[in-house]
Amino acid sequence: MKKPVRQLLDWYEINRRILPWREDPSPYHVWISEIMLQQTRVETVKPYYARFLKALPDICALAGVADDDLMKLWEGLGYYSRARNLKRAAQMILRDCGGEMPAFPGELMKLPGIGSYTAGAIASIAYGGAYPAVDGNAMRIWTRVRADSRDIGKAGTKRAIEEEIAAVLPETPFDAGRFNQALMDLGTAVCLPNSAPRCPECPWKDNCRAHRDGCETEFPVKAGRKPRRIEERTILLIEDNGSVLIRKRPEQGLLAGLYELPGLSGHLSESQVLSWCRKQGVEAIRIRPLPAAKHIFTHIEWHMRGYLIHVDALSDFVPGKLDGIMADKRAISTRYSIPSAFSNYILYIT
Ligand code: ADE
Repeated sequence: MKKPVRQLLDWYEINRRILPWREDPSPYHVWISEIMLQQTRVETVKPYYARFLKALPDICALAGVADDDLMKLWEGLGYYSRARNLKRAAQMILRDCGGEMPAFPGELMKLPGIGSYTAGAIASIAYGGAYPAVDGNAMRIWTRVRADSRDIGKAGTKRAIEEEIAAVLPETPFDAGRFNQALMDLGTAVCLPNSAPRCPECPWKDNCRAHRDGCETEFPVKAGRKPRRIEERTILLIEDNGSVLIRKRPEQGLLAGLYELPGLSGHLSESQVLSWCRKQGVEAIRIRPLPAAKHIFTHIEWHMRGYLIHVDALSDFVPGKLDGIMADKRAISTRYSIPSAFSNYILYIT
C-alpha cells in the first residue's frame, strides 16, 4: 500500500464519523443512505434514514410501497425523483436479480438512480470491492492534492479522476470502502470548500501540491454554470373552516406527482387574485397578503408572493376548474406530501 493511502486510512481510523449507516453497512443500508445523501446534508438525512428503514426495512418492502406513502417518507428531502428511482430499482432487483442487490458497479449502474459514485460506494463499502466512489468531495481533494486545474464540471474530468483513484486504491477487502469514506469525511471536516480548508489537520498536507504552493482555494476549477431561470409565482392558501385546498401536481416535470398549494404564474395583486377567484366561482370573504418567499431548485428559482384567502362553501366551486382536495392541518402533516417549496406558506394553516 502506498504511503499516502496508509496515512489516509490511519487518519480515518481515528477521525471517522459515527453515522447510522456505518453501523450495519448492508447493501440496502448503504444504497438508501447514499441516495439520501446526494445533495443533502448528513444531519438532515439522519432522521429521514431512520424513519425510512423503519417503514421499509428491506428491498421487498420498498418495491411494494404505495407511491403516496413513499413521497410522505421523502417529504422535505427534495429531489423526489430519487425516491421514485429507489422504488423502481427495488422492483428491478426483485425481478431481475433474485432480490439481491448487485455487487459490481457495472451491474449496479443499470439500476435507475445509481450512477458511478453510488455504484462505487455500494460495491466498496457494502461488498468490500476495490472501486472508487468519486463525488464533489473526492474531486475537490484530488484536484487540490495534484494542483489539477481541469474543469470538474466536465464528465471527462470525473472519469479521469475515477481512473486515477482506482489505480491507488488498496486491494485488501473493505479497505477501498474505508478509503472512499475517508475522502467523504476529509472533505466534510478538513478539505473544506472555498476559502476554508483546515490544512494543518490534513493527513495529506505534506504531499498536497496546492498546499505547498499556497493555492488550495484555486481548486477545484469549475466553469460557471448557467444562471437559474427565475419564475414569479403567486401562491394561494384557500381556507375554509381549518381546511385548505391542495392539489396534485402533474406526473411529469418539477415536483412531479406531489401535492401543492394552488399557484398562479406572475406576481398578482390582491384585486387580480380576487377576480381570478371569482372566475373559478369562489367568493372570498377575506384576503390577506403573506410575506414573500423564495425557493431554489437546481435550474429554477421561484420568487413567491402569497395570499391567505378565506372562502365560504368551497363545494360551490365550478367543477373541474379548481379541482383539488380540502385537507386539514393533520392530513397535511400525516398524509399528503407537500414539498418544502411551500413551507413558508403552509405555516399559515390554522
Ligand atoms: N456523503 C455521501 N455519502 C456519505 C457517507 N456514506 N458518509 C458520510 N458522508 C457522506
